[in-house]
Amino acid sequence: MKPMQPVRGTADLMPRQKSQMNIVLEKASLIASRYGFQDMETPIFEFTEVFSRPLGESSDVVAKETYSFEDRGGSSLTLRPEGTASVMRALISNGLTQSLPQKFFYAGPMFRYERPQKGRMRQFHQIGCEYIGSFNPLADAEVIGCAAQFLSELGVLHSCRLHLNSLGDGESRDTDRAALVAFLPHYKNELSSDSQRRLNENPLRILDSKADEDREILKNAPQLLAFLTTQAQQHFEQVTNALDKAGINWQLDINLVRGLDYYSHTAFEFITDELGSQGTVLGGGRYDGLSAMLGGPDIGAVGFAAGVERLALLIEQKQEFTYDIAVVITDDNAASDGFALAQNLRLQGLKTDIPMAPQLGKKLKRASLIGCKLSFIIGENEIKSDTIQVKVMTTGEQKQMEISQALSFAEKFLKHGLEGNLSE
Ligand code: HAM
Repeated sequence: MKPMQPVRGTADLMPRQKSQMNIVLEKASLIASRYGFQDMETPIFEFTEVFSRPLGESSDVVAKETYSFEDRGGSSLTLRPEGTASVMRALISNGLTQSLPQKFFYAGPMFRYERPQKGRMRQFHQIGCEYIGSFNPLADAEVIGCAAQFLSELGVLHSCRLHLNSLGDGESRDTDRAALVAFLPHYKNELSSDSQRRLNENPLRILDSKADEDREILKNAPQLLAFLTTQAQQHFEQVTNALDKAGINWQLDINLVRGLDYYSHTAFEFITDELGSQGTVLGGGRYDGLSAMLGGPDIGAVGFAAGVERLALLIEQKQEFTYDIAVVITDDNAASDGFALAQNLRLQGLKTDIPMAPQLGKKLKRASLIGCKLSFIIGENEIKSDTIQVKVMTTGEQKQMEISQALSFAEKFLKHGLEGNLSE
């Protein structure tokens, strides 16, 4: 039988990749907590309506990328393609609309039927922060500040640029859409086929097109910023003033519209050149209309999500997993004592392995290979005298010690980073 393969666009997260991803997750949760974002989790699938309207029936995600299915009870369900709609649905379902603001942090797998390539998967992971219950532009700045600090402390901010735009409020967008609808049909036959389709469905998305032919036409297209209402303009200015004051670098990107329909006002992305075409590591914005789309009250909200796999690719290779100590058992009669010693070391918080090779030399070789700084060698003679041989792997120095003495030596040597001196 042919060996089984994973489904296209999915990946087994083997220890090396998983440890890189854990670094991203731990840093995200730590920084988010400094801003008051509290950890929460929503189900991996939802009723299809949770995503279809908020994300936009004509958005790529809903039109082409969702994993939707009917369950045995005939309900239409969708594997979540993103977290924001689910988090807002959860806030409403849990009756929290009366206790605002709420700040949530979440992490988990998302599902999009996209064409897989480096940094683009069909099952991928996001971390996200949602600040729900404020129309204040400072909330936008706070969310962007949190994203920037997260990337900075992960050591990747220097290779990312913050792109910022304002989509304005409903009124700004209606006038902009009307201007685009008046402008673009003149170029209908020159637009890419995707953009021709969007011309009727969602002309604003054309601004986001990466196709060369579209980019050329868009150079002369009416710009979103020109149609902002005074109120929307003020909102954007307050966000950018706050970012400037706090020393957060950003650049205006008038074509940034984001791929999901629920956005208004601030839209932003952190983009790197180091990951080829999938360079957006983090994206977000304000989504004041989302609550109402899900049957909730009028609530201001802003947030972001970042791709964990993309960030894991970007952070420097961290060192491999290594052990602290090897318990090297020299004869079979010492097996259970050796095992008990190893358990004791693990209970003390030391990463301990029992090398299983056939001969002493090979066991010690394995101990070096897996990064052990010390070996505790135990055999029949040592058991009789209640001692062990302690070997410092880097120098090869070795000394017989009582077990309690060996334990306190190991603690000093490994936990407190003191240079071990066996002759002490
Ligand atoms: P998004 O831009 O669709 O926004 O996704 C956020 C991030 O998820 C992207 O910047 C990217 O790093 C990662 N990502 C997206 N698709 C894939 C994929 N197929 N494979 C790997 N990584 C991917 C949202 O999802 C919004 N919910 C963000 C948000 C939160 N807006 C407000 N609050």
